[in-house]
Amino acid sequence: MKFFVDSADVSAIRELNDLGLVDGVTTNPSLILKSGRDIMEVTAEICALVGGPVSAEVVAPQADAMIAEGRKLAGIAPNVAVKLPLTWEGLKACKVLSGEGRMVNVTLCFSAPQALLAAKAGASFISPFIGRLDDLAIDGIDLIGDIRTIYDNYGFETQILAASVRTVNHVLEVARIGADVMTAPPEVIRKLAVHPLTDAGLAQFLSDWEKTGQKIL
Ligand code: G3P
Repeated sequence: MKFFVDSADVSAIRELNDLGLVDGVTTNPSLILKSGRDIMEVTAEICALVGGPVSAEVVAPQADAMIAEGRKLAGIAPNVAVKLPLTWEGLKACKVLSGEGRMVNVTLCFSAPQALLAAKAGASFISPFIGRLDDLAIDGIDLIGDIRTIYDNYGFETQILAASVRTVNHVLEVARIGADVMTAPPEVIRKLAVHPLTDAGLAQFLSDWEKTGQKIL
């Protein structure tokens, strides 16, 4: 499963990228707001840092304007994936932009039929938001499983990009069920390394080591 970082914080992305953990990046208007940066500048900086797809989201409501915005965003770097909302207008824009050979990430997906439409419109990625479904007591992991089954039934090449991933368990579950990609905030990715038995075991080893009186260096 590929790891994307859901952030527009360049220093956090850089730290994870230096560890080889970053296959791509996703941003959205809320994350651009949080970064305090200009969308064109910060997207260019992230694209130069990360080799994989970097999603940058359009904000226009109508297809024609989405297409114009998408072309401008795609002009920032070859690894920009234009992010479009899963609306009827977004699907129209997806068909045009993907037909031009551009990467498209269709976002705000909350149902398997929506995901089916995005695949038929040529999306490179579909982004089901699992955390926001969990907020409503709807199982987001079931949605990933349904989309996996449907895409595999018909050989759709659209990649399932599990989004709104908020917990270590979300990462585990989407990996188990076969998401192609997951995108998570840097703090969730860091938590994947944490286990209390690792900490306890290390403390014991270091305490015993001290008693040996030895040094390695
Ligand atoms: O990838 C989508 C993500 O940014 C939304 O996450 O936690 O705001 O639902 P969240």
